[in-house]
Amino acid sequence: MSINTVSTTPFSDQKPGTSGLRKAVTVFQQPNYLENFVQSIFNSLEDCQGKTIVLGGDGRYYNRQAIQIILKMAAANGIGKVLVGKGGILSTPAASAVIRQYQAFGGIVLSASHNPGGKDGDFGIKYNITNGGPAPEKITEAIFSCSKTITNYKIFETNDIDLDKLSILRIGEMAVEVIDPVEPYAKLMETLFDFAKIRQLLQGNFKMCVDSMHAVTGTYAKEIFENRLGAQPGTVMNGVPLEDFGGGHPDPNLVYAHDLVDILFGDNAPDFGAASDGDGDRNMILGNNFFVTPSDSLAVLTANATLVPGYKSGLTGVARSMPTSAAADRVAAKLGINCYETPTGWKFFGNLLDADKATLCGEESFGTGSNHIREKDGLWAVLFWLNILAVTGKSVEEILTDHWQTYGRNFYSRHDYEEVAKEPAMELMDRLRGISKELPGQKFGSYTVDYADDFSYTDPIDGSVSNKQGIRIGFTDGSRIVFRLSGTGTKGATLRVYLESYESDVSKHKVETQTALKPLIEMAEEIAKIYQYTQRKEPTVIT
Ligand code: G1P
Ligand code: ZN
Repeated sequence: MSINTVSTTPFSDQKPGTSGLRKAVTVFQQPNYLENFVQSIFNSLEDCQGKTIVLGGDGRYYNRQAIQIILKMAAANGIGKVLVGKGGILSTPAASAVIRQYQAFGGIVLSASHNPGGKDGDFGIKYNITNGGPAPEKITEAIFSCSKTITNYKIFETNDIDLDKLSILRIGEMAVEVIDPVEPYAKLMETLFDFAKIRQLLQGNFKMCVDSMHAVTGTYAKEIFENRLGAQPGTVMNGVPLEDFGGGHPDPNLVYAHDLVDILFGDNAPDFGAASDGDGDRNMILGNNFFVTPSDSLAVLTANATLVPGYKSGLTGVARSMPTSAAADRVAAKLGINCYETPTGWKFFGNLLDADKATLCGEESFGTGSNHIREKDGLWAVLFWLNILAVTGKSVEEILTDHWQTYGRNFYSRHDYEEVAKEPAMELMDRLRGISKELPGQKFGSYTVDYADDFSYTDPIDGSVSNKQGIRIGFTDGSRIVFRLSGTGTKGATLRVYLESYESDVSKHKVETQTALKPLIEMAEEIAKIYQYTQRKEPTVIT
């Protein structure tokens, strides 16, 4: 066993995006590609010598190989100890929980989240800091900058270690502890939610269905819902994690979680359905023939938080990403707490959570979470909903209908144009940026533009500024259209168009969402000339 210093040359495309470095598996399989990025992480970290880090991933193709490489590089770079999930598995929320519980220095999480997996799919890697959350831009920039000048990396020459037995091993001076990936997370959930009440609910007439989409939460959901909460065996569907997610696209939305959607919108539908994504941080909530938008879900959790043991003393504040609807803002106003509007990406919530300015956070992209960890958390959201249903005895639809009656309804939808050509998509955005100054005051049908800007955020804690976070066009009646390009896609560009309108009149709350938003959908085309720039008449995904 010896440390090898291997010469290498930089790759120019290792800039982390919205959530770490995400590329096709074949890109990561190029000689030195993963190694360069991992060495850049170690080079950019100060004082990591002798420290403990956490390592695990969502089990997708290349997870196991990458774990072995990273372990050997960690040993060669002087890391003291690595806590690695058995089988190389840790869901993103579990990794965050383990970093916090063990007070580790940081963690390396291997995942491309909801992107498809397998040989032809995607892979990803991101670094999380001591608070358990994604590294802020200052750190991802430093990693990128190291990646541009790297000349060599260090790796221990040794055999692969056995990841499938709970044990403590050594690579050189470094300890490797193979830990149970589920136990620390399940224990944390038991401290937040009323498991006894939820068990009562699940053992009565209440029927539910959880779709793990053949991804990492299969293992977690079976243990929590079936073993600990006594749900019927088989409650967790697609519960065996597979390296290629069974060929599916593990994104919990109405398009990709179709197995679950068919059941919840079919005959004799269960009372409750939920799905989660590749690495377990996203969630979709459904009732019997009913879809809860993630923006509404955040608002409902905020309004009902005190019914749940972990949040019974109230919330300090709530935070949502800019494109997320303003439904939570209305609840916050009523509760007399602050609602923060941040750029897209969970990393922007970290400072607010650390400073205790926000307790709950959410994104329209099926992400909800709280200060219990520093990542969004799919199964946590499911448990939160079950706890509310158990306490109130209401159905999902009743909860939403009552909520809209109290606060009004924010109709909301996101239209994605996936894999469009990059250059014209960027031109579309540049053009919008250019015309945004002239838009205020302009009329489109019965709508008048109130404001138009490119969202910029100043972090209230550390003062850091993030510019160019998406074009917002607000109308005088409170409606809004937002345009941004995805920072997680790996092929071409993905244009996201976010549409929102507010309706206080209860008699109009049952209108179908796309119908309610039709005037805004048409205006989005008129203002942004989507067809001209993307050659697409329709979005590829509507959520
Ligand atoms: C997408 C979502 C964003 C989320 C991120 C990681 O990023 O829109 O809300 O935080 O995935 O799950 P985007 O592709 O839009 O940059
Ligand atoms: Zn994810």
